[in-house]
Amino acid sequence: MSDQYELLDSGNGKKLERYGDIILDRPCAQAVWEPQNPLLWNKATASFDRVGGLNWKGRHKLSDSWNVEIAGVAMKLSATDFGHIGVFPETRALWKWIRETLTAEKNKKGRDLKFLNLFAYSGGATLAAAQSGVQCCHLDASKGMVEWARENAAINNLENAPVRWIVDDVIKFLRREVKRGNQYDGILLDPPSFGRGKKGELYKIEDQLMTTLDLVNQVLNDDPSFVILTSHTPGFSPIVLSNLLRQYHKIGRFECGEMLLTGKPDVNDLPNGNWARWINDQTV
Ligand SMILES: C[S@@+](CC[C@H](N)C(=O)[O-])C[C@H]1O[C@@H](n2cnc3c(N)ncnc32)[C@H](O)[C@@H]1O
Repeated sequence: MSDQYELLDSGNGKKLERYGDIILDRPCAQAVWEPQNPLLWNKATASFDRVGGLNWKGRHKLSDSWNVEIAGVAMKLSATDFGHIGVFPETRALWKWIRETLTAEKNKKGRDLKFLNLFAYSGGATLAAAQSGVQCCHLDASKGMVEWARENAAINNLENAPVRWIVDDVIKFLRREVKRGNQYDGILLDPPSFGRGKKGELYKIEDQLMTTLDLVNQVLNDDPSFVILTSHTPGFSPIVLSNLLRQYHKIGRFECGEMLLTGKPDVNDLPNGNWARWINDQTV
């Protein structure tokens, strides 16, 4: 599986990453240590900082967009005004797990499977799931992000894959899915600390997460495969996320950990958020 992403170094509140031929130097609050390789930072194609505003330096050296393959999924990247580029590579290990697990579950169960990606952003996990041949539902409140994810589908030759692309507020959508009786085998949700629904509905993780998880539980089918909960919110540690999932599942296996930006073996891993998953290993 080809991967054109690598963490090159981190430290002094920053991270240095390679995305194909492009090297970016961007802020990262948790990188409180000294860089391992200070000379490498001169190689950055462009850098971003939040000192006195939101500033790119060297943005003119970046194309309007460029494509890279991450964990077997081609992604269109583009420098946004907020310093994001259209992918969170710390989730790439989960994309791979989702693709492998859905492929195995599909073979084992011998039926069509349905995967739901909530707060789905630019679609890396949706497309990894689509590569396994399951039906997908991709939901984000931002029309622009759903369009971006559809462009990513096209560059992976998945424009005709069975994916429902939905622009909606997560809670409104889940309530409708419960009423419609639509159910899923696997669900990924990545609730933001703070977000806005399609019509500006306020999403605050501490206020809305329990309602979201209750609804997620209601749209699981009778023989589901997994639920994955990820978070970048401080305080939502792997065990906190795991305990949240344990409220709904008395059987099965729980796994959890930190999401990591990684590079070559001698480069220090950089934690960026946490994950937990419930795996139903007692399928009917
Ligand atoms: C942190 S990003 C998700 C990152 C993505 N899962 C990934 O790993 O690449 C949060 C996303 O949630 C979306 N969002 C925020 N509030 C929402 C809401 N109430 N309903 C649906 N989507 C929402 C945002 O538009 C954004 O794309």
